[in-house]
Amino acid sequence: MKAENPNSLPIGQSREPIPATPEGLLAAVLASNQHTTDPRLKQILESLLRHLHAFADEVQLSYGELEQGIDFLVQVGKATGPEKHEGILLADILGIATLVGLIDAKKALAAGGTEPALIGPFWRAHQPLRPNGSLIASPKTPGDKLLVNGRVLSLDGAPIANARVETWQASPGGLYENQDPSQEDMNLRARFQTDEDGYFSFRSVRPSGYAVPVDGPCGKLLALQKRDIMRPAHLHFIVLAEGYKTLATQIFDADDPNAYRDVVFGAVGSLLRSFEAQEDGTYVLDLELRLEPGTMRMPLCPLP
Ligand code: BEZ
Ligand code: FE
Repeated sequence: MKAENPNSLPIGQSREPIPATPEGLLAAVLASNQHTTDPRLKQILESLLRHLHAFADEVQLSYGELEQGIDFLVQVGKATGPEKHEGILLADILGIATLVGLIDAKKALAAGGTEPALIGPFWRAHQPLRPNGSLIASPKTPGDKLLVNGRVLSLDGAPIANARVETWQASPGGLYENQDPSQEDMNLRARFQTDEDGYFSFRSVRPSGYAVPVDGPCGKLLALQKRDIMRPAHLHFIVLAEGYKTLATQIFDADDPNAYRDVVFGAVGSLLRSFEAQEDGTYVLDLELRLEPGTMRMPLCPLP
């Protein structure tokens, strides 16, 4: 008699019924992942399935609670569009965006690289390329004057020429221009290119803290958790250069009352800085951004 080849069964099928126990069910669910061809996807799914099942078992999740969770994710999807990215906001308020940034930058951090911070939901594609030294605030923008002198360097301190530096910030009124019809299109947003010595610079206004958007499902979750909804004042940067890992970071005002309780956990370690006032009242931020060698990657841009 010919021996039966167990591999001849269609993928995901077994000759045994699915066991009616959490452990047996998990084994069947993990077996269904065995033929995933991409090894990294297989690894991620395996761990995700284990943790998801362990979580539901630990809290003894009810079917009604599972429905609530699914509906929450549906609402997050519905609240996401060209105006607003609720999905990114969710990753941010859960702290997972900050965690992934720190994991990604582990090697760079050990070698003196700049700490990363999440991109958040407000970076726009096609921010205008402006010459170094430009003012990025429209004349109507309130706030104290700010001068940013930046330099992009490799981990060994060599200047990186022709790096692309994206920057954006909220107005001192607490809103990004895309949230605020009273601001000009692309106000407080720009792209710069570093010069041959790695320098870039611009003039702007000193940022203020602001509340994250709470008009969607993430806002409801924050209210249920009775959490603060503020971010400390900050400027965003993304630095892209051939031969280097892309750096997304933020520089925070250490004097902001919310400096130590950022709702999205982005204000970490060395990213808190004092903005120094000059005699004429202009605040100055001197900045070095140190990049790790590697592959440049264009991050997903949340807004058009
Ligand atoms: C931001 O910094 O732009 C941001 C980050 C997370 C949530 C909301 C806003
Ligand atoms: Fe921001």
